Amino acid sequence: MKNILTAPFITEMKEITANMYRLGWDERNGGNISYMLDESVVGEYLDLNNVIRTIPTGFVAKSLIGKIFIVTGTGKYFRNVQSDPETNLGIIRIAQDGTTAELLWGYADGGKFTSELPAHLMSHMARLSVDPENRVVIHCHPTHTLAMNFVHTLDEKEFTHTLWEMCTECIVVFPDGVGVLPWMLCGNNTIGEATAKKMEEFRLVVWGMHGIYGAGKTIDETFGLIETVEKAAQIYMLTCNMPRINTIKDSEMQELAEAFGVTYRKDFLNL
Ligand code: 13P
Ligand code: ZN
Repeated sequence: MKNILTAPFITEMKEITANMYRLGWDERNGGNISYMLDESVVGEYLDLNNVIRTIPTGFVAKSLIGKIFIVTGTGKYFRNVQSDPETNLGIIRIAQDGTTAELLWGYADGGKFTSELPAHLMSHMARLSVDPENRVVIHCHPTHTLAMNFVHTLDEKEFTHTLWEMCTECIVVFPDGVGVLPWMLCGNNTIGEATAKKMEEFRLVVWGMHGIYGAGKTIDETFGLIETVEKAAQIYMLTCNMPRINTIKDSEMQELAEAFGVTYRKDFLNL
């Protein structure tokens, strides 16, 4: 059996959490990540028959039975993942009852998965139903995106349109737009269900006055989606108090989407 600390998925988790922490998107224990792993790959590092303990999830994830995820721990700091992955991360498998997580590795101090597991696993189910290659869900608190929540309407057409206007590449990177939820109590099944409903339509969902969720095939893709929104939000926050002299027109955004061959939310443009 290979040493799990050398596994590529552990390296990816260490690198992405450190990177996000340094960007200021994950203060204290802010943010969480879940990443679906191939059973055959995990089997190179762990005895899949050795369940360390079981942890109830509090909801049923039928379509994820038998699936394995590496998930950040609740209350754990992204800042600390690099130096102690075994305490700050865990590898769980959804048991045959669909509602129990079998711990295969990690949470070494007796901890458990993120309090946002409902939003993560429900989002995985929603994304997999429209994109069977989806593997990653990331939640974080990016500074400018969050700032924008306080000064911009939380209407998803208006919010997406403003972001698309801020950087030429936005409509190409997230042509499906950004879903927006109002402020809601976090860490429960209700916000999980609301997030998953949006995830049927969007790979990005803003949690009003809280943060953002992104979903994608890889860590890179998912990070890149959030990074692009955050960059656009930063440009917005740098310019929103100044007279706007120039802008990217809706007809130009349409031109971009067509030139790059992406399927975009036409109803989010005013053509
Ligand atoms: P956890 O520490 O439970 O992952 O929660 C952090 C967070 O961002 C809540 O939304
Ligand atoms: Zn959060």
